[in-house]
Amino acid sequence: MLHRLQSILMSLSLPSLWSQTSTLPTSVSLFNSSPSLHGSLDALNKTLGGRLLQGHPLAFPCAHGPETDECKVVQKGYLDSLFRSTTPGGAGYVNTQWETCQTTGEGCLLDYLNPFDASPVSKDKGGCGMGSVSEYYIDVRTQQDAQAAFRFGKELKASGMPIVIKNTGHDYKGRSSAPGSLALWTHNLKNLTFNPTFRAEGCPPGNSGKTYTAVTMGAGVQWIEAYDFAETHNITLVGGSDNAVGSAGGWLQGGGHGFLSNALGLGVDRALQFKVVTPKGEYLTANACQNRDLFFALRGGGGGTFGLVLESTVLASPRVTIQAALVKLPSPSPSRLWGTMASQAVTWANEGWGGLSASDIAIYVNPRLDKEQATKSMEPLFQLAGDGVITQMLEFPSYAQFFKWFASNNVAASGVPLALSSLLVPSSALVNPESREKVVAALAKASDNTPRILVHSSAPVFFRPDPNEPTSVTERWRDSILHITIVSAWNWNSTKEEKLDAYQRVSLSRKLVEDAIGPSVRAAYLNEADVYQENHEEVFWGSNYPGLLKIKKKYDPEHLLDCWHCVGWTEESQRFKCYL
Ligand SMILES: Cc1cc2nc3c(=O)[nH]c(=O)nc-3n(C[C@H](O)[C@H](O)[C@H](O)COP(=O)(O)OP(=O)(O)OC[C@H]3O[C@@H](n4cnc5c(N)ncnc54)[C@H](O)[C@@H]3O)c2cc1C
Ligand SMILES: *[C@@H]1O[C@H](CO)[C@@H](O)[C@H](O)[C@H]1NC(C)=O
Ligand SMILES: *[C@@H]1O[C@H](CO)[C@@H](O)[C@H](O)[C@H]1NC(C)=O
Ligand SMILES: *[C@@H]1O[C@H](CO)[C@@H](O)[C@H](O)[C@H]1NC(C)=O
Ligand SMILES: *[C@@H]1O[C@H](CO)[C@@H](O)[C@H](O)[C@H]1NC(C)=O
Repeated sequence: MLHRLQSILMSLSLPSLWSQTSTLPTSVSLFNSSPSLHGSLDALNKTLGGRLLQGHPLAFPCAHGPETDECKVVQKGYLDSLFRSTTPGGAGYVNTQWETCQTTGEGCLLDYLNPFDASPVSKDKGGCGMGSVSEYYIDVRTQQDAQAAFRFGKELKASGMPIVIKNTGHDYKGRSSAPGSLALWTHNLKNLTFNPTFRAEGCPPGNSGKTYTAVTMGAGVQWIEAYDFAETHNITLVGGSDNAVGSAGGWLQGGGHGFLSNALGLGVDRALQFKVVTPKGEYLTANACQNRDLFFALRGGGGGTFGLVLESTVLASPRVTIQAALVKLPSPSPSRLWGTMASQAVTWANEGWGGLSASDIAIYVNPRLDKEQATKSMEPLFQLAGDGVITQMLEFPSYAQFFKWFASNNVAASGVPLALSSLLVPSSALVNPESREKVVAALAKASDNTPRILVHSSAPVFFRPDPNEPTSVTERWRDSILHITIVSAWNWNSTKEEKLDAYQRVSLSRKLVEDAIGPSVRAAYLNEADVYQENHEEVFWGSNYPGLLKIKKKYDPEHLLDCWHCVGWTEESQRFKCYL
């Protein structure tokens, strides 16, 4: 393999990392031996002034032996999503199957139960393979970087090297990695700007043009940074429930829900402007006054599809006092907790509550009620009090301060492979007690088959969107009350069959709940959806799909940006060869 790499790359110098070891990829040939690929990469590297970099898997340093400092750093950070998202080239992915090739088993994973054991990547265990980690990457700093990549994109694609956009690597569906790819790594675009009188570019000046209190975020900004920024500027930003998810990338472009989205809207509802490099190489501003079609597509059409967003501007709201209610049961009690939660879901949503619950914990926040009102409204939840039950009613001076408290107690799994499935529950399934009981029973049954279910009260029920500024998420977000995610995981060394079983379990659990909901139109949140979602076009985008497809064809006619179950994807593309 080393020989092959050298002969293909010829004049491209190999980093020392690659020549030090004999544990190079063995099972998959990531390159065809096309000389045109070498030529394109060389030319791209020249255009970039030598800034084309070679990627390698996260745990690669441990293949040299566990004693190296580089390996120790990886082992220490292995389960930390912030560490993973910061590693050069974005070698780390939060859900580790996307670092591997699931069809061949090739990869470079440590045992997440004990990352301090380096033996899984030792030579006698087969060492490290590239898996789905990008072969090359560009540390994107300017529009010109993205333009250079897209200029060579068609040639690279023809030689078997697809382009992916990689931000934090949180994607549950593997849309930010691909075997043998070139990654546009957006992590270092960290600019944050506060503008109390933001006017979208090209919108009329004077009194007829609206201004907003807004924040412009570079593509690499992550929620922990954005929330700190909000705190500094005494404002509220609506974001996700994980420190390290990106604020301006995939989260936003696919919808973006969180604790405050019931009261203040989805991420897309609050998007005011995007600066984008399209696959045709144009640098465009998309907002309500120019490139409206692209603006619409980026407000829910999904990341990695229409172009590389360099920065996103979103609405900032005034700082709000947050009432937070917490109930923690001593052991899982799905029927009891979700029974209460489902019976109150519509009322709570209309009062402005947002939150989430697992089978043993529920956390809700409200930016509208005072402490007395909030306590009264949450009485049904607090009635669950009893032996070993923890109940708390807390007040925070800002959402950022609530989040700090929340994130210090609740950290999502990272460095673990997992399968996820999502569905939206319409209010019609919850207002009628009979159908509600069916949904709760199905959830309880589903939690027997799948280790973790999260019920998110994050559909924008209280919030009403501006009808003149349409978003492209499924319209079902607007008449849904709950968003449910179902999770299953497997071991670092599981077989293909065991992985498939986990994917099938989450699908089956989802179908149990869907059956309980009855024959309403199916909908799911595309960023947390089932990798094998049936009829995904309608389920993710509803009636917006045909329009989105037209926009995809207009801005990316050569399919330089394709991703799994994305608008206009081409299933037969070689970039998907590692999906089971
Ligand atoms: C632990 C965890 C917690 C989560 N919590 C929430 C939550 O509370 N709410 C919620 O809504 N979702 C949540 N998600 C899902 C999250 O929205 C998705 O994982 C999303 O894809 C992450 O986007 P990213 O840019 O951070 O990640 P990446 O994996 O880097 O990118 C995701 C997708 O967006 C594309 N993309 C990224 N940046 C750009 C860009 N600048 N321009 C164009 N395309 C881009 C990529 O190509 C890829 O297709 C969570 C996920 C995890 C793993
Ligand atoms: C790109 O060019 C620079 C400078 O010539 C070189 O150091 C670097 O190794 C090249 N990149 C790759 C991936 O070979
Ligand atoms: C970052 O923001 C400042 C304004 O706050 C702007 O002058 C600068 O050009 C921005 N940099 C990038 C790389 O976008
Ligand atoms: C912060 O914002 C709140 C809400 O708008 C306002 O009441 C308060 O005076 C602000 N505080 C500071 C220090 O500006
Ligand atoms: C997988 O790894 C675990 C340690 O986490 C080990 O106990 C088990 O034997 C391994 N399974 C196989 C098939 O190698």
